[in-house]
Amino acid sequence: MQQKWDERYKEQEFAYGKEPNLFFKEWLAKFSPGAILMPADGEGRNGVFAAQLGWKVTSFDLSVEGQAKALQLARDKHVTLSYIVGDLEHLHFENETFDAIGLIYAHFSGDKKADFHKQLDNYLKPGGIIIFEAFSKSHLAAYGPKEMDMLYSKEEIMVDFGNYEVLVLAEEEILLDEGKYHIGKGSVIRFIGKKKSPMA
Ligand SMILES: C[S@@+](CC[C@H](N)C(=O)[O-])C[C@H]1O[C@@H](n2cnc3c(N)ncnc32)[C@H](O)[C@@H]1O
Repeated sequence: MQQKWDERYKEQEFAYGKEPNLFFKEWLAKFSPGAILMPADGEGRNGVFAAQLGWKVTSFDLSVEGQAKALQLARDKHVTLSYIVGDLEHLHFENETFDAIGLIYAHFSGDKKADFHKQLDNYLKPGGIIIFEAFSKSHLAAYGPKEMDMLYSKEEIMVDFGNYEVLVLAEEEILLDEGKYHIGKGSVIRFIGKKKSPMA
């Protein structure tokens, strides 16, 4: 898996472009900056954008090539971010330390994604937000994951993030224009959730 991503990110071009995902960009700007965790941040287009808005960014990803490009992009934009190379399965952060988590095309293997979501939820403070966009199970385009269980449904999100106030939860057909790997029509799940306090 890691090899696939290293090979993709070794190319000179940015696989998904240098600009942030549009949904992430629109929604992140609505919240006051704090500490944000960016799982599976790839070449860092979204983490770097968050840093430009004043967020304290912690990114991680499987790919060392992704890390190199993200850190270069951060230097080019005169911002800093902490970027860890590793598999979420083996990473650990303090509970309730992040004000936001950006899950943008973070497609995990089907047998792990619910556990990963639970793990990430632990790292978010009550009142914290999740900004999520990823391909839905209706996504039939030539690009994106092929394995049905790596794709998402609204029902799964409602189960995995049952302790969230739902600000947005939708399945939408959109036109993507993100580098050479996300181009054309895509069917996506979009979710904005605010973590409830335990007593709420
Ligand atoms: C489609 S790319 C999206 C990259 C980035 N979020 C973006 O939108 O530009 C998916 C990323 O998930 C990362 N990834 C997949 N499984 C992972 C895991 N278990 N731990 C950390 N990163 C993972 C891959 O290395 C890859 O960079």
